[in-house]
Amino acid sequence: MTVLLAGGAGYIGSHTAVELLNAGHEVVIADDYSNSCPEAVNRIEELTGKKVVSYEADVKDAEAVRKIFAENKIDCVIHFAGLKAVGESVQQPVRYYRNNIDTTLTLLECMKEAGVHRFVFSSSATVYGEENKIPYVETMKRGSCSNPYGWTKVMMEEILEDAAKADPELTVVLLRYFNPIGAHESGRIGEDPQGIPNNLMPYIAQVAVGRRDHLTIFGDDYPTPDGTCRRDYIHVMDLADGHVRAVNYAKDAKGVTVFNLGTGTPYSVLDIVHTFEDANGIKIAYEMGPRRAGDLPEFWADSNKATQVLSWEAKRNLQDMCRDTWNWQKQNPNGYRQGLGEDK
Ligand code: NAD
Ligand code: UD1
Repeated sequence: MTVLLAGGAGYIGSHTAVELLNAGHEVVIADDYSNSCPEAVNRIEELTGKKVVSYEADVKDAEAVRKIFAENKIDCVIHFAGLKAVGESVQQPVRYYRNNIDTTLTLLECMKEAGVHRFVFSSSATVYGEENKIPYVETMKRGSCSNPYGWTKVMMEEILEDAAKADPELTVVLLRYFNPIGAHESGRIGEDPQGIPNNLMPYIAQVAVGRRDHLTIFGDDYPTPDGTCRRDYIHVMDLADGHVRAVNYAKDAKGVTVFNLGTGTPYSVLDIVHTFEDANGIKIAYEMGPRRAGDLPEFWADSNKATQVLSWEAKRNLQDMCRDTWNWQKQNPNGYRQGLGEDK
């Protein structure tokens, strides 16, 4: 199949592109590079030895998206293009709603015009909200989110469900990611946040490489075994494999299907710090700080549905995730922007 990756130059999109190409699919990338670099596309080509058609395009822009559908015979769209910084979404809610929801609407409209019927969506465990019991299962109702970013995911899931209800030809796969970390084994592609990282693993990696002084752990008084929050961390290559299976599944599926993609095993913030230290032989300086607003004490996935329906399972462990993160970070201390000077 030919798969359009909206936001495909980003962290999860670039790893998925490699796995799709290795599985024999063709890949077209549309990205405005608002949170990524064209160099990621060069590296995807280098890793796979295959050509990627790429467009610098804002996926909210219907004219730009129409052109992509006109110039390529697309069989399936994966929608990664979104803003994802939780704190920023609280400061700039309108920008988040505009970007995340408009990209989805534009893609749906242009797909319909072009006769493209398969849509795979990057959703998040955040849609389970505060009300559901752990582990999260796909049959649970969506909950309430603590921030606009989370609400955009809830709203986009609802928009996609309504669209599929109204159009029996439309197939939608909602992939609810837990906490993706790690990088391609080669260290050539990886997570490259701009500015100060919001998420735990990129922060640890930047402490390890000397870009940050120390990690602050957000709270050690949670009702968890060591007092720090627990999450379901998943290797980005296992997540990428989940996308390849979702694309294959969408070929013959009908309606909307939801899959959790997580390992089902929670690890605490301290587990991550200590495993990173053990896997890489590096000390991570850290101090305890106050809780971060909106953080839940712990959550993890029940991913049995993905195992049963997609024959998918996460194969890489926490050591692998920590080793591969460091392999990427040490080879690319400033991410894709080598030699461009210090970031803030
Ligand atoms: P990322 O920022 O690395 O990738 C997103 C890509 O979309 C970037 O390359 C960015 O430049 C592009 N983009 C944003 N708005 C665009 C627009 N209007 N037009 C074209 N391109 C645009 O993020 P990621 O970690 O790869 O996440 C991909 C998707 O998965 C996002 O939708 C995110 O919300 C979702 N998600 C991520 C996580 C995570 O922990 N990384 C967890 C759950 C869900
Ligand atoms: C966060 C978002 C979630 C989003 C996901 C991917 C919140 C509340 N949730 O998930 O909606 O889908 O990112 O973008 O922001 N931590 C520290 N110090 C740090 C950074 C993180 O102690 O410097 C802790 C956090 O408190 C948390 C854990 O590490 O307990 C993981 O944090 P993070 O990587 O930001 O992921 P989530 O908060 O789970």
